[in-house]
Amino acid sequence: MDIKNLVSQMTLEEKAKFCSGADFWHVEGLPRLGIPSVMVTDGPCGLRKQAGDTDHLGLNASVTAISYPTGSCVACSFDRDLLRESGEALGDECQAEDVAVLLGPAVNIKRSPLCGRNFEYFSEDPYLAGELSAAYIKGVQSKNVGTSLKHFAANSMEHRRMTSDSVVDERTLREIYLPAFEKSVKEAQPWTIMCSYNQVNGDFASENHRLLTEILRDEWGFEGAVMSDWGAVNDRVKGVPAGMDLEMPGPGTANTEKLIAAVQAGDMKESDLDTAVERILGFVYKYAENRKPDTKFDHERDHQKARRMAAESMVLLKNDGLLPLAPSSKTAFIGKFAAEPRFQGGGSSHVSCYKVSGSVEAGEKYGVTYAQGYDTKTQEPDEALIAQAVEAARSAENAVVFIGITDAMESEGFDRKDMKIPACQQRLLEEVVKVQPNTAVVVECGSAIEMPWIEDVRAVLYAYLGGEAVGPAIVDILFGEVNPSGKLAETFPLRLEDNPSYLYYFGEADRTEYREGIFVGYRYYDKKNLPVLFPFGHGLSYTRFAYSGLTLDKAEMKDTDALTATVKVKNVGDRAGKEIVQLYVADDESTVIRPVKELKGFAKVELAPGEEKTVSFTLDKRAFAYYNTDLADWHVETGSFTVMVGRSSREIELTAKVRVESTQPVKKTYHWNSTVGDIMADPKGAQMMGQMMQAMNPLAGAGPQEGQDESQAIMAGDAMAAMMNYMPLRALVMFAGGSAEAAAGIQQLIDGLNA
Ligand code: BGC
Repeated sequence: MDIKNLVSQMTLEEKAKFCSGADFWHVEGLPRLGIPSVMVTDGPCGLRKQAGDTDHLGLNASVTAISYPTGSCVACSFDRDLLRESGEALGDECQAEDVAVLLGPAVNIKRSPLCGRNFEYFSEDPYLAGELSAAYIKGVQSKNVGTSLKHFAANSMEHRRMTSDSVVDERTLREIYLPAFEKSVKEAQPWTIMCSYNQVNGDFASENHRLLTEILRDEWGFEGAVMSDWGAVNDRVKGVPAGMDLEMPGPGTANTEKLIAAVQAGDMKESDLDTAVERILGFVYKYAENRKPDTKFDHERDHQKARRMAAESMVLLKNDGLLPLAPSSKTAFIGKFAAEPRFQGGGSSHVSCYKVSGSVEAGEKYGVTYAQGYDTKTQEPDEALIAQAVEAARSAENAVVFIGITDAMESEGFDRKDMKIPACQQRLLEEVVKVQPNTAVVVECGSAIEMPWIEDVRAVLYAYLGGEAVGPAIVDILFGEVNPSGKLAETFPLRLEDNPSYLYYFGEADRTEYREGIFVGYRYYDKKNLPVLFPFGHGLSYTRFAYSGLTLDKAEMKDTDALTATVKVKNVGDRAGKEIVQLYVADDESTVIRPVKELKGFAKVELAPGEEKTVSFTLDKRAFAYYNTDLADWHVETGSFTVMVGRSSREIELTAKVRVESTQPVKKTYHWNSTVGDIMADPKGAQMMGQMMQAMNPLAGAGPQEGQDESQAIMAGDAMAAMMNYMPLRALVMFAGGSAEAAAGIQQLIDGLNA
């Protein structure tokens, strides 16, 4: 379709109207020119196509679809192929239901465990979130259905989400909150991006030129359209030239009139409207011209897919040998979530599912017994339910207590107040472990919780919100049909107060300062060397893996080269299983404040008992770089880096060193307040300073040691040298007698270095 030509035939009024939706879920069409109206639908972990009454809060019914595990769950699979596969399944569902754009994936960073929407987001780590997001987008879009990467940007809190201002410094934005978007755009080109509700550094995301045009399009090369989150538009006339093409939902009649008036008054260029409409028609025609109306949507097949995805993602956090349970053992399932699982989040991602399979039903084949234990409508303990549960636990060989957060406590639209489970569940657990030493816990909720009871139970399986087939997936793992292989995509702190955002999270009124900066998640806990409940990347298996032979293909490289790291991983247990091999990079010495280590690679490998595989990673400049705000670019400081490979962020098995040389010199300017240390750190400075010091000889008596020249001796290891390091050049003149010659010598040094 010749879109430019089409737009040239549209009137000003038609174009302005096109910049908001036709209704809650449709983009405008224009029969006069044969332009179809297409549908967009939530996303991200199932199709919420509303055929009747519409809303964006998950209230009204939608067509029957599959509820897949939510973002926080599938992220723990660390499996790009699985994410791609889920995208493909969702793409097929969209084709079958005639949906042009699926509203997802959601890639905001988990800044605090309290964010009500953490269940939908992937990780606290931007590299992991970006890799998984790109895979998902490629999967959906391979079916000629678009995605809407959301919520752009710095939307890590639900509290006052439509008005709050995320105040984030540039380096933190670039290193933590933007990379998942950047990676998705550069690698997978989502057809659309959804701007977030909040303000970012004083400008609403929906009218933020820097975000939507300078960074997204000019820097990253985004080719698609930007749509607003539902109701995110603040000033529409400012939004269009900022790069916000489509207001949702529609119709935005009042804003359409404002756009027309702005063009007529000369306050906005008509060409800005043309650009927005061209971008919208871009995805409309991509879909319309590649429709696959014959696509079949097989509910039962996809239900099984959801089950496999859940089993691949859940995380076995603790196991002292209780799991897997012997199929013949007498096991009691306790807790309402065992029968009626919590498997999806509340809000716009809420799916009307095909069928929900709980653990009690799935456990029938193992003869499990069941006791409800608590009511999900109240936090208060019910003594009668607890007594029944205690009895069931006592008369079994093992108890599995199903706990979690309820819908009322965790949802889109508001944040949690704490990281606790309901009081009734806590009490139940306390009573059960008194009578049954063989107690395992299954947790169903969207984000991290505190576990003050961790020492009292023998095993913990974290199911997250595992989608509609969560029950059989849990039972598969409990009884050893499936060997667990998920690892945490977020740190579980011991207590909420340990979280780095704790002091600032809700902010003051609408101002939320991200004061912890780049120290989000493990970047913070590692730097502070704090104990955590479970570290990022942690997850157990029923088999064991041994790591050996970490090899780097270079000992030295330029930052323009790529480094290949290989490592051998062997299954040394007696069951087949999958291991998630994690690669972290640390800058050994840096003049900028950096995390102890950062995830820069991961791979999921399947190994039969005794089998060994070589896993290979490629590291480019970004793996070693930090964002340099003076250069407005990524920068690697020349020096030594450690490549670490391990089974979690706190279980590093092997390390190797590489020296990386920067090809991007940072120009330093020297002046009278540059310190002796600054000068000595510059090779040319050290040489010139050496000569000058010899001439000035301000520290008589500090004779050279073996292997040192005189200037090095002056600088070497004593207190005087340490003090000298911080001495500005102007003071040096004074210590050298304050003569005009000394001053001239220093000036010469400065000029020489700046030349
Ligand atoms: C959510 C979006 C969602 C939209 C449409 C908003 O409330 O923030 O993620 O796509 O509604 O339902």
